[in-house]
Amino acid sequence: MVGAGQLARMTHQAAISLGLSLRVLAESAGDGGALVTPLVEIGAPDDAEAVERFAKGCDVVTFDHEHVPQPIIAGLERSGIAVRPGASALHFAQDKRAMRQRLGELGLPVPAWSDDPAALPRPYVAKAVTGGYDGRGVWFVDEGDPLPDIDLIVEERVSIVHELAIQVARTPSGKTRTWPVVETVQRDGICVQVVAPAPRLSPSFANSAEQLAITIATELDVVGVLTVELFEAPTGLVINELAMRPHNSGHWSIEGSATSQFEQHLRAILDWGLGDTRPRAPVSVMVNLLGGESTDLAASLPTALAEVPEASIHLYGKQARPGRKLGHVTVLGDDVAGVRDRAQRAVDILRGDPS
Ligand SMILES: Nc1ncnc2c1ncn2[C@@H]1O[C@H](COP(=O)(O)OP(=O)(O)OP(=O)(O)O)[C@@H](O)[C@H]1O
Ligand SMILES: [Mg+2]
Repeated sequence: MVGAGQLARMTHQAAISLGLSLRVLAESAGDGGALVTPLVEIGAPDDAEAVERFAKGCDVVTFDHEHVPQPIIAGLERSGIAVRPGASALHFAQDKRAMRQRLGELGLPVPAWSDDPAALPRPYVAKAVTGGYDGRGVWFVDEGDPLPDIDLIVEERVSIVHELAIQVARTPSGKTRTWPVVETVQRDGICVQVVAPAPRLSPSFANSAEQLAITIATELDVVGVLTVELFEAPTGLVINELAMRPHNSGHWSIEGSATSQFEQHLRAILDWGLGDTRPRAPVSVMVNLLGGESTDLAASLPTALAEVPEASIHLYGKQARPGRKLGHVTVLGDDVAGVRDRAQRAVDILRGDPS
């Protein structure tokens, strides 16, 4: 896996049970995913030589992020290395302009958008074509606001009822399996909470989300896990963006689904059979642990474990910093409000927030 953040760390956890050795290309030895495996190489994802040297020792190469430039990925493929997902699919997760264009051509629902900031009425949303994450690279632009001087697209500001996400895994031979649609709650452009399955979602919307995910995975020839972020708008579903890897919206699946997104990603890229994705409980809630002003996990963890014994706590081995994703907590149960309270309680204790 190129990249060694928390996604690599949790993929490694799934790899262990399958008897696999996950090799990671880490930017630094202290990366969360590098701390847990002996098979670490150090190198930048945009250093062609480092990526090539790393890839030569792997049966299959996959990714924990979108930061490997296209020419490097295409180069690996030309030298006969199994890259999954492949360069042509990844392009649509790396380049928001290409993604909007291609999904539009497929007749799928995307917001009205343009390359030309003058072509859409304000207010609108401007987005960096490449490199954005956690809301960095997204600007809500009102009348008179200046635009950042970078390569961007602009798009209609969708009136969002709920934010949703759906994940599907696809094998090289084209078999697919989806998880239930989830609701994601964002604050300041960052996902703070996920409820699975999405409560309050009509069966017809759930069904069309599932069809959308399968269509996109198939048409774009994605191999591995595909995440489709969606807006539920009054008029129907609108596609926000794509990620072709395990994703924050799927962390609930570690405990909440018969097969986690991390195990399924491995099974898909290795062309092994896909696992059962049915939920293990009526409700799973995942709450992200974002660093607070006084987060001291060593001090707060025992209290969180004791006070919320049903919580599954995942820590990513990162240095605490305000706003940084340090871990997540998942709780399973029967009712959304109760499960959400318990998961949030564990996170509040971990953050050192007053109760
Ligand atoms: N067209 C839009 N209309 C309204 N809100 C939007 C629109 N596009 C984005 N947003 C809001 O901004 C958030 C971040 O947008 P987006 O997912 O495109 O950015 P990102 O930084 O690439 O995020 P990620 O970390 O998921 O990769 C969305 O979750 C949504 O709340
Ligand atoms: Mg997003």
